[in-house]
Parts: sequence; structure tokens; C-alpha cells
Amino acid sequence: MNVSMKVLTVTLGFAGALCVSSAIAAPNWSSVPAKDVELFYPGQSSWEWLLTPSEHPGATKFRGGKNCFACHNGDEKNMGKLIASGKKNEPAPIAGKSGSIDAKVQMTHDATNMYVRLVFAPGSQPDAKQDKEFATKVTMMIDAGGVPEVARGGCFAMCHQDSADMPAANGADRTMYLYKTRQKLTANGGGDALVPADALAKLKASGYSVEYWQARLNEGKPAVVENGEIFAKREETKPTVVSADASYKGGTWTVTLTRKLNAPGMVALAPGKTYTVGFAIHAGHTNKRFHYVSFERSMTLDGGNADFVVK
Ligand code: HEC
Repeated sequence: MNVSMKVLTVTLGFAGALCVSSAIAAPNWSSVPAKDVELFYPGQSSWEWLLTPSEHPGATKFRGGKNCFACHNGDEKNMGKLIASGKKNEPAPIAGKSGSIDAKVQMTHDATNMYVRLVFAPGSQPDAKQDKEFATKVTMMIDAGGVPEVARGGCFAMCHQDSADMPAANGADRTMYLYKTRQKLTANGGGDALVPADALAKLKASGYSVEYWQARLNEGKPAVVENGEIFAKREETKPTVVSADASYKGGTWTVTLTRKLNAPGMVALAPGKTYTVGFAIHAGHTNKRFHYVSFERSMTLDGGNADFVVK
């Protein structure tokens, strides 16, 4: 074999290896079914507001066992428009902001990883100048079945009347939290008094916490990723086990989030279990509650009955 033949063989071998590894890393999205998930602007619609019959017409039936999405599937665009305009539950409307975002969501997994892809056009998003660093943030939450109120009400179960920028915040900067971490829940939220440490530990051990993945985005720049959990507060966890790939083209974001099915500090993703997932998008340089959210969706792996049966 002469020298140039040898170089050719080595090059081909290398290219072949690259091909195989990228086929494993990137799912073939054209064969993964896409679901429409409408995200809407919720304003100050807190858990406590939602549970109060004199405020929310769905409160009594919700308390009686009917879930949010079961009543509101298809209402999202109108609700978002109403609230973003400032006519309901929003004392500080952002002029010109869209009321909803329609996302196409795909989920798939292989032997190692779970992949979630969101494709969406943010629409009209004036710069709110709240988040100076990132224009857009995409978040997914996962409850592995340990938080009954999240299975029923999705992200809304973690949004309280006294969280930051909510009606009873009184300037406090409380993040999202789960109410059983508090000594009591009133119409003004749960405040800062936590149940004793042993009770917190028990709750945690029972799976009472929600995992989140977040990709922070600017056009033309790599996504910055954070993962963490919501329990007594929203808290980043390390190591960062989620990765994100994002591109922006013609007004549309395509964002892929990936994590190993089994990752340190995160819930195990496995067949035979029902998870609840929820999505949030911050667009137009916003923070905290000034985002779009989805109603709750159920998720299983490989089989079963759920909004997303991930294969
Ligand atoms: C039994 C049906 C039902 C259930 C369950 C229900 N709602 Fe409602 N919700 C309503 C009705 C009816 C309205 C008032 C709509 C109107 O006035 O046109 C409403 C209003 C709202 C509004 C204010 C926006 C608007 O259009 O008035 C929000 C936000 C909302 N619901 C969110 C939720 C969330 C989150 C849950 C679950 C925690 C939930 N709802 C559960 C029936 C329901």
C-alpha cells in the first residue's frame, strides 16, 4: 500500500466512525410524532386564586377532581389574549405582547437518552428588559408521580399568591414552591414558615419534588443549560446533566433538550410509570411569572395511556 492509499483508508475509517456516533446522538425527528402544546400567558393566576370559587369559576369542580386541561383544552389562545391584554389577572401588561405560543413538541428515547424537541415561533415579543442576558428561555418540568397536585394542575401547583411579583408578594422574591413544605397554606400563599426538617426529609424521600430542565437562548449563540428542582424553592442542582441544542431561523426556534434516562440527582425515566410534564417559555427578555405556560400533560415511556407515549 502506498502512502496516499493509507491516508485515504484512515480518513474513511474516521468518517465512518463519526457517522455512527452522530446517528446514535441525534434522533430521526421525522419519524417521531409531534403534538401541539399551546402555551398561554397566565399573569397572576396563582394556585390560591384557582382554588377560590368566588374568583375562578372552575374552582369547585377542580376541587371535586376535574383537572385543568380537561376543562381548558382549546381555551389557551383566548385566555392568553385576555390576560396578556391586562383585562384579567395582570396589573402590569407588556404592551404588544402575544397572548400565547403554539409549540410542536416531540419526545423520544433510545437505550441511553431522553430527547425532547420544541419548535415554536415566539410571535410579537417587545423587549421587557427584565432578563438582560437572555432573550428566550425554554423550560420543562417533570413530576415522577410524587406530587399529586402537579399531576392535577401542572406548573400552576407551584405558583403561589406570594411568589415574586404576585399579588401577596409584598416585595419578597419567593420562587416557585410546593405547598406541603409550608406549615400552612392560606389564600395569600404559604409564606416562609417551613414544616420541620424531619417532615421535609420525609416529603423529599417520598418523591415530593419536581425536576426542571431549562435552556437559555440568544440567537446565534449556544444554549446555556440549567437543571434543578422545585421543592421548598426553585433550586439549581449540579451536576448539569441536561444538554440543549438550539437554532433560530425565520422567526422559529428549534430547541432540543437531552438527558440520560438515569442521571445523578434526577428522577429515573423508565417504562411503567406515569409522569406529569409541563412547559414554560419566557420570551422578550422576561423573568419570573412573565412567561407562557402549558397545562399539565401526562407522559409514559414505551407504552400505556398518556398524552406523550415516548418511544
Ligand atoms: C370545571 C372546569 C374548570 C376547571 C377544572 C378549571 N377551570 Fe379554569 N376556568 C373555568 C371557567 C368556566 C373559567 C371562566 C372563563 C370565562 O369567564 O370565560 C375559568 C377561568 C380560568 C382562568 C382565567 C382566564 C379566563 O379565561 O377567565 C384561568 C387562568 C384558569 N381558569 C386556569 C385554570 C387552571 C390552571 C386550572 C387547574 C388548576 C383550571 N383553570 C381548572 C373552568 C375550569
